[in-house]
Amino acid sequence: MQIISTIAEFQKWRRQVENVAFVPTMGNLHEGHLSLVREAKKNADAVVVSIFVNRIQFGEGEDFDQYPRTLQEDAEKLKEVGADIVFAPAEQELYPDGKQHYFIEPPLLQNDLCGKTRPGHFRGVATVVTKLFNIVQPDVACFGKKDYQQLVILTGMVRDLNMNIRIVPVAIERAEDGLALSSRNGYLSPEERCQAPELFQTLQTMATQMQQGHTDFIALEKMATSKLNQQGWQVDYIEIRQALTLAKAQKSDKNIVILAAAVLGRTRLIDNLEVHLLHA
Ligand code: PAF
Repeated sequence: MQIISTIAEFQKWRRQVENVAFVPTMGNLHEGHLSLVREAKKNADAVVVSIFVNRIQFGEGEDFDQYPRTLQEDAEKLKEVGADIVFAPAEQELYPDGKQHYFIEPPLLQNDLCGKTRPGHFRGVATVVTKLFNIVQPDVACFGKKDYQQLVILTGMVRDLNMNIRIVPVAIERAEDGLALSSRNGYLSPEERCQAPELFQTLQTMATQMQQGHTDFIALEKMATSKLNQQGWQVDYIEIRQALTLAKAQKSDKNIVILAAAVLGRTRLIDNLEVHLLHA
């Protein structure tokens, strides 16, 4: 495995390789990222993993400066799981004069759900992913379903801009108690870590209620929100949406995703659960 830190050096390597599967990350890697790499390996001759903490997707007051930079540990994990190239550019490689001048502007979905409290976030994600796609020239790119809204936005971007890349969605990796793996779990205190699975449990309860025929989605969202708030969370949103478009789900929809974001202590966690309803 090779670690490459400049675009020029990467492009030299890229010319010799036919088929590339790409896993973009911001580093601080856990099992969830490694499952993306394992999936990527099934899809191409060579796997490129980028590690780049992307300033333009962080809002003011977000954790850009505190975001853990753990290149050495990350590289060891990636070597073990069989990545071929780690592309870890310095900031000035991607933003030579310190800022980005041209942006990819996602549609209105960027201001919904997580975008409501993180203005500009998905614009920053779509822009850096486009830059990385242009550098890496992948055939396939793997994204986790943990960041479900990000996955939907990037899938739409690739389709709408005719990018010749196949997006492979990868299932959420969970701890034994159900908590979705996330770099942010490391910010939880031991007590908060014990409480954190309540978020996924709430989604599971809602899914069961829907499978039992509850079709008043607004009531289900409200009940789940007030229960978590009573347990000491600060719920940002719990929403029942269409799985493909993230439009509000209707009673007749079959492919649904329940998405949630909530703050525990000072840590904002997100999770989601896909639900397939069998009604006629
Ligand atoms: O999901 C992430 O880690 C980031 O948003 C991504 C896709 C690597 C872009 O910086």
